[in-house]
Formats: sequence, C-alpha cells, structure tokens
Amino acid sequence: MAVRLGDVAPDFTAETTQGRIRFHEWKGDSWAILFSHPKDFTPVCTTELGAAAALKSEFEKRGAKIIGLSVDPVDSHARWEQDIQDVTGQKVNFPMIADPDRKVSDLYDMIHPNASDTQTVRSVFVIAPDHKVKLTITYPASTGRNFREILRVLDSLQLTANHSVSTPADWNDGDDVIVLPALSDDEARKKFPKGFETKKPYLRVTPQPNR
Ligand code: BEZ
Repeated sequence: MAVRLGDVAPDFTAETTQGRIRFHEWKGDSWAILFSHPKDFTPVCTTELGAAAALKSEFEKRGAKIIGLSVDPVDSHARWEQDIQDVTGQKVNFPMIADPDRKVSDLYDMIHPNASDTQTVRSVFVIAPDHKVKLTITYPASTGRNFREILRVLDSLQLTANHSVSTPADWNDGDDVIVLPALSDDEARKKFPKGFETKKPYLRVTPQPNR
C-alpha cells in the first residue's frame, strides 16, 4: 500500500553501506530524507548521488539526515561509491540501503510495475521528527532530481510546522509568506507584529516570521 502524507513512515531493518540499521532508531528525532534510485552504475543516478552528497551539510544545518536506497546489494553500492567520487568529486557521505529482496521498496511502494518491474523509481520521502511523512515526490528513471528543491521544501515544512503560515508558489527561505486563512485579522495582528497586506480577504501576506 502506498505511504501517504501524515502516515507514520514504516520502520524496517536493513543493510546499508554504513552497517545494519533499524530505520526509526537511525533517524532518531531528526528529520529524514529517504530516497530511492533505480540502479547502481547508471548515469543519472551517479550524478544524483554526487549532488545529494554535496548538499549533506545543508540538510544537517536543517536537522535532517539523508539516506539512499536501491535494490542492489551492499557490495555493489560500495564499489559504485568510487565512480561517484571520480565523476562528481563528492565522497558519498550518507548511508545507502541495500534492498535486494525488495523488503523496503515494497513497504514504501517504490517499485511501480508499469514503469519497471525490477527497479525502484526515484521516490523521495521527507519524514518529520515524529516519524510522520510530510512530503512524497516521485520522478521517473529518466529525470534526475533537484536536491535544492528538496531543501527548499524542507525549509517550508519546518517553517509551517511552527508558525501559522503557508508558503506561496516558488517561495524561497526569506520571502514573504501567507497568513493562514483560519486566523482572524485580529489574531493575525497579534501573531505577526510586522503586519500583513490583504491582497484578497483569503490571501494575506506577511514577512517571514522567524527572520
Ligand atoms: C540512470 O540513472 O541513468 C538510469 C537508471 C535506470 C534506468 C534508466 C536510467
């Protein structure tokens, strides 16, 4: 069954390039980005793993751990890491789950049989400190992900978890945000001392409150 927003991310035990883990225990009370790639030693995946490694410190700044997965075995992941470093200049600095028996892939519905019977699609799950799934994205094998977009979404998820706001299209950290329509103008004035602009009765914008 698909893993949906608000679900508790299923727990599992798996071999990784950094040893055996129990997912919830490994994650602890951090945020986590769990992402699958279709296959080791393939071109797009090689660029993606390098891109993710380059941004690990940005994820860490936001209290988030990253972990990859494919159905390849752990010795294959380990051998491929050298190629990733050769091509992208990035040492793979996060664990990659080996899932040859597809236990985790099935748990998270990462194999989409009408795309491929044997390989995981490019799934992304952003999981909050309470283990609840806050974001899912799925890309096909032919399209590499933009890991900066995942950072951008993480900024929004963390902001909106703590303030009565939502973020508009194409928002980036530091841009104005939207006051939740559920707040009255009086409540909004108290919560947002910098004020807000009413563009429509249901669309009020205010400077990002934690800046
Ligand atoms: C790639 O990473 O380039 C790739 C992986 C699996 C299928 C197609 C492309």
